Amino acid sequence: MKKKSAQQTWGGRFSAGPAAAVKAYTESVSFDWRLFNHDIAGSIAHAKGLAKVGLLTKAEAAKIERGLRAIQHEIESGKFKWDFDCEDVHMNIEAALIRKIGAAGKKLHTGRSRNDQIATDIRLWIISKIRATNFEIRHLQSALVAFAEKERDAVIPGYTHLQRAQPVLLAHHLLAYVEMLDRDAGRFADCSKRANVCPLGSGAIAGSTLKLDRAYVAKVLGFAGVTQNSMDAVSDRDFVVEFHAAAALTGAHLSRLAEDLILWSSAEFGFITIADAYTTGSSLMPQKKNPDIAELARGKTARLYGNLVQALTLLKSLPLTYNRDLQEDKQPLFKSADTLLSTLHMVAEMMRHIHVNHIKCEGAASDPMMLATDLVDFLVMKGMAFREAHHTVGALCAEAEKTHSSLPKLAAKKYGPAATKVFDVRRALNARTAIGAPSPKNVAAQIKRWKKLLK
Ligand code: ARG
Repeated sequence: MKKKSAQQTWGGRFSAGPAAAVKAYTESVSFDWRLFNHDIAGSIAHAKGLAKVGLLTKAEAAKIERGLRAIQHEIESGKFKWDFDCEDVHMNIEAALIRKIGAAGKKLHTGRSRNDQIATDIRLWIISKIRATNFEIRHLQSALVAFAEKERDAVIPGYTHLQRAQPVLLAHHLLAYVEMLDRDAGRFADCSKRANVCPLGSGAIAGSTLKLDRAYVAKVLGFAGVTQNSMDAVSDRDFVVEFHAAAALTGAHLSRLAEDLILWSSAEFGFITIADAYTTGSSLMPQKKNPDIAELARGKTARLYGNLVQALTLLKSLPLTYNRDLQEDKQPLFKSADTLLSTLHMVAEMMRHIHVNHIKCEGAASDPMMLATDLVDFLVMKGMAFREAHHTVGALCAEAEKTHSSLPKLAAKKYGPAATKVFDVRRALNARTAIGAPSPKNVAAQIKRWKKLLK
């Protein structure tokens, strides 16, 4: 077999190149090409570092930088020819650099391994994706807050066990998701903090005998610091798992929001109508209008969970340090980031295209049974013990159900006319003034707080 391109990099000790099937099985450039921007940034920083400690001349480092920028431009404009013989993004770019600038290019990999190179690339990639994710999370939060503000008077039943529980402001329900998303953003920020250390200089496993300036290279790349153990640096991907975990939880929140919207848009609830542009039809039933975006947001969450488990399983039992298994970290990572970003974006857009059916909401929310707890509170205020009040109101609810009569009427008969006041939904909401409870005043204050935070 002839020595091929990959052989130029590591082929010295091999008598023949790998068979085509082996190359196809082991290559990663078909997907890790997406790291090219970060790979090039890492290489430029590394070359500057080599120049700083005298392992490259200033002219060589400048030549390398120019060459790499030209390659970056070729990749961005679609002119670059990825060579599958060259295994991965790193070797493709290095080989192209050598072709382009000759001798100086052969010095770029001095004191470096693909092991610390890939660890650096993924950290940089994750940090930039977290920035994008944070932007989309804020975008969705803003859409939810805008929706809450527009519909600040709408009341709906709040549910536990998917049974009507107590009336709430729709805005309060929406703001619950704003809180969840805020914690999601916090988890991503936390992940970013731990990803923000530079592995370059760790080499393949045990650093280098060359006197590299790791802190300088890290600074050029904008990292907050450098990794402290070369073996840890090249072999762990815990920051990848953390990214997946944060994505999976965000997915859980998006999926729950999606589920609420799906239920609310059904004829059975009828609380909302999602705009035509954000729904799809049926190939058979002409009357159908389906909440497919919400359903896909719910469905795509499965992928986020699956990828989290994949990443965890990949790391389990790997002996230190780098093992080729780790190449398998990339596709799920890319897929999860793509899925999460597009889902956040689509859900935000959909939130801005939802119509609230106020009559339906008000009708459902004024079910007096949902204020049975308020009647208990009324009796407690009159001096009755809570358990006793709970029991007697429970019996009254059962009677109302059995005799098809209204709870307010029975309550007035039993506890006097003042008891009917309890069943005014607006009164019930206004009375819920504790921190975090859904009085209209509280909810308005929360909308104001979020608007300020999201500005
Ligand atoms: N494509 C490899 C990966 O993604 C890059 C590191 C390869 N290192 C090695 N020693 N073969 O993990």
